[in-house]
Order: sequence, then C-alpha cells, then structure tokens
Amino acid sequence: MPEQATDDAASRHVPVLLARCLELLAPALAEPGSVMVDSTLGMGGHTEGVLRAFPHVRVVGLDRDPQALELAGRRLAPFGDRFTPVHAIYDEIGDVLDDLGIGHVQGVLMDLGVSSLQLDEVERGFSYAKDAPLDMRMDSTTGQTAADVLNTYDQRAIARILREYGEERFAPRIARAVVAARAVRPLTRTAELVDLVRASIPAVARQTGGHPAKRTFQALRIEVNGELEVLERAVPASIEALAVGGRIVVEAYQSLEDRIVKRAFAAGATSSAPPDLPVEPATHTPYLRLVTRGAEEADAEELARNPRSQSVRLRAAERLRPTPDHMRDRKTPRRAA
Ligand SMILES: C[S@@+](CC[C@H](N)C(=O)[O-])C[C@H]1O[C@@H](n2cnc3c(N)ncnc32)[C@H](O)[C@@H]1O
Repeated sequence: MPEQATDDAASRHVPVLLARCLELLAPALAEPGSVMVDSTLGMGGHTEGVLRAFPHVRVVGLDRDPQALELAGRRLAPFGDRFTPVHAIYDEIGDVLDDLGIGHVQGVLMDLGVSSLQLDEVERGFSYAKDAPLDMRMDSTTGQTAADVLNTYDQRAIARILREYGEERFAPRIARAVVAARAVRPLTRTAELVDLVRASIPAVARQTGGHPAKRTFQALRIEVNGELEVLERAVPASIEALAVGGRIVVEAYQSLEDRIVKRAFAAGATSSAPPDLPVEPATHTPYLRLVTRGAEEADAEELARNPRSQSVRLRAAERLRPTPDHMRDRKTPRRAA
C-alpha cells in the first residue's frame, strides 16, 4: 500500500526547522550535479524538502533503522534516482560514498536522535510512558538491547552511564536498585525499570524535572546505540566528505551531542598558528567557517508547529579548504581529492 506508507512517513514525523535548514544549505547546493547526504533520513521530511526546493540535487539518505528506510524510501520513490537510500550508521559516510563512486558532496544534514516513529512504536521500548520490552535499539536487527545493558553491566558501570549520559543525580541509587532487582530475576520490561527509578528517587525530587525516568531512558538509549562515540567519529568524517564550499548542518537535541558538534566545528574554524606569529601562514588558516552564530534555537512559531523542536540546537559550517594534514583528526581517513 504505497499511498498509505507515503502518508505514514509524512504524518509520523514533522521535520524540525526545515525552512532554516534549506536556507543554510542553499548556497552550497546551487550548482547542477550537487549531492547532499542526509545522514539521519528518518521519515524523509528534510530530504523531501531538499528534493523539492533544489530540483537538480541528488540526496543520499542514510539511516541505521531499516524500518525508517523502508517508509522514507516509499515516500521518496517519486523522486526516482535523485534519491538513494542506504542502510548505514552515519560514521560510515566515507565508505558509503566510496561504494556509490561519489568523491565529495556539497551538503551534509544531521538531525540527531530518535524519530517520532521510533518513539511511537511502543514495542521498541524507547518510551517510558508505555510498557514494552527493554530494547531501545535504533537498528533492531543487531547489537545489545537495554535489557542486556541492565542485566549484564556491573553496578558502577550502570551508575556511570546514568550520570554521564542522563545527568541523573540519583544514578548510584538507581544502579543499586537495578542490581538488586536483577538478582531476583532479569529485567525485561520498561515498566519494571520505570518503577525502579521512581522508587529510587526521593519524593521531593520527583516533583521537578519532568518524568522521573526520562534521564534514565535517555542514558540507556545513548549507551545501547553507542550514540556519542559514533557522533565523535561522524562529525569529522562528514566534514571530510564535504567539497570546498560545501556545508554541514547539524540539529542536536541534548547538550552532550551539541558539545561534540560545537567542538568539531570550532576545531576547524580556528587557526592552528601559534598565537605569537606576526603573520598567519596559509597552512594554518581555518578549514571551516561557522555559518550560524552559536547554536540556533526554535522560535515561537516553530515551537507551536512542532513540539519536537523544543530542545533543538542547530549549528552549520562551511568548508573553506581541504583539511591540512596537521589539522586532521588522526582517526578520520582522508578522502582523495
Ligand atoms: C530525528 S530522526 C530524523 C528525522 C528526519 N530528519 C525527518 O525529517 O524525517 C533521526 C533518525 O536518525 C537515525 N539515526 C540515529 N542515529 C543514527 C546513526 N548513528 N546512523 C544512522 N542513522 C541514525 C534514527 O534511526 C532516526 O531515524
């Protein structure tokens, strides 16, 4: 039922700050033959916007979630060979482009986090609001689940994850409760975890800061999908994939991700010359230019249209020149010119 699937993809997720993303990408996508990588295809909302706004542009859409690829693929089928879906994790951008015979691209878009589809599909276990198996994998065909993490990691590791990835004040207490509960029987359901978290947080603290399990769920999702390590590799790899004049736009929804993006952009936009040199040698000039001033947030109009935009932090940068060897992150392979 292609009609239904097409409607499905469009209605399941409203793209965040679409008009602003298009505006930021426009100068880079002006030339015929331009290629953009949508590293987080999701339901294809941003990609559809790009394909409509720039009729000469080709989009390569990546997602690690096969279900997202299928739904977005059907939605975008009318664009024919201007759209290429690829099942990949976004730090694999270099290999994906090699396989497609594409050297450098003019745009990269990353709209991080989970899609509304993933949150709405109760059985995938991303939501603390409904009882489901403790899964939380973005790609449900592979890798460890949230249940694996909770039932096999030691107490200290669980506490660290909750503290670092969820900024959870009561991480040690929750970790202790998890280890005590699993000694009786393994945890399998999200509702069990929500009950454990609720019981571990003092009543006064439960009255502020939203749902008590929100931070724990965010932390587990990040761990299950290795989100921060992948992003640490993906941002430099995406910059490396950009042609000179190409632009990268990233939308992050929590501070840990935004910090990774900010640092990678700042590294490229800062001269590598020692501060005491009277003249900056050309080899030391920045290879990126920041296109946004700090991180942009959603305005009232966007918020009214799309509640998902509430925590968005959007940053964009333009490639000024190839990355000189001495400024390259050693873990990021160079792309042939
Ligand atoms: C917020 S949604 C994107 C929504 C999309 N911009 C739209 O308009 O429909 C994020 C998507 O990125 C995917 N994703 C998250 N991390 C990923 C990764 N490391 N590699 C590839 N895809 C990833 C998720 O599976 C999800 O479908």
